[in-house]
Amino acid sequence: MNTSKIALITGGNKGIGLETARQLGKLGFTILLGSRDEARGQEATAALTAQNIHAKAMTLDITDLDTIQSAVKRIDDQYGALDVLINNAGVCFVGSLPPS
Ligand SMILES: NC(=O)c1ccc[n+]([C@@H]2O[C@H](COP(=O)([O-])OP(=O)(O)OC[C@H]3O[C@@H](n4cnc5c(N)ncnc54)[C@H](OP(=O)(O)O)[C@@H]3O)[C@@H](O)[C@H]2O)c1
Repeated sequence: MNTSKIALITGGNKGIGLETARQLGKLGFTILLGSRDEARGQEATAALTAQNIHAKAMTLDITDLDTIQSAVKRIDDQYGALDVLINNAGVCFVGSLPPS
């Protein structure tokens, strides 16, 4: 049985998210590597696995309710709960902010 803590990182296939995944993985966390693109997620997960990190790809676009609901179900079914959620995939507003 896998008793390691479970960490989900959104936007985990590159940049800060991937590095966070690598560092948590080295600490012994099981990494659920959220990625909006399945192939990019699989590639990044394979790179972590090659470093002896326990990582699973999880298709997750934070703007797409279907992928969010699928991820929630998979987490419920396979892990019961998350120990850590790192919502690294940011949201950027294009254009000017309303006057304060
Ligand atoms: N780098 C900095 O200096 C800096 C400074 C302050 C804050 N931040 C914040 O830190 C976070 C990561 O930055 P970064 O430099 O590592 O960015 P990055 O290299 O551009 O990586 C962003 C990640 O988020 C993913 N992503 C984008 N939209 C998404 C969506 N709708 N659903 C799921 N994933 C999505 C990207 O996926 P794709 O590969 O598919 O595009 C990629 O994996 C961002 O929230 C950024 O705003 C960064």
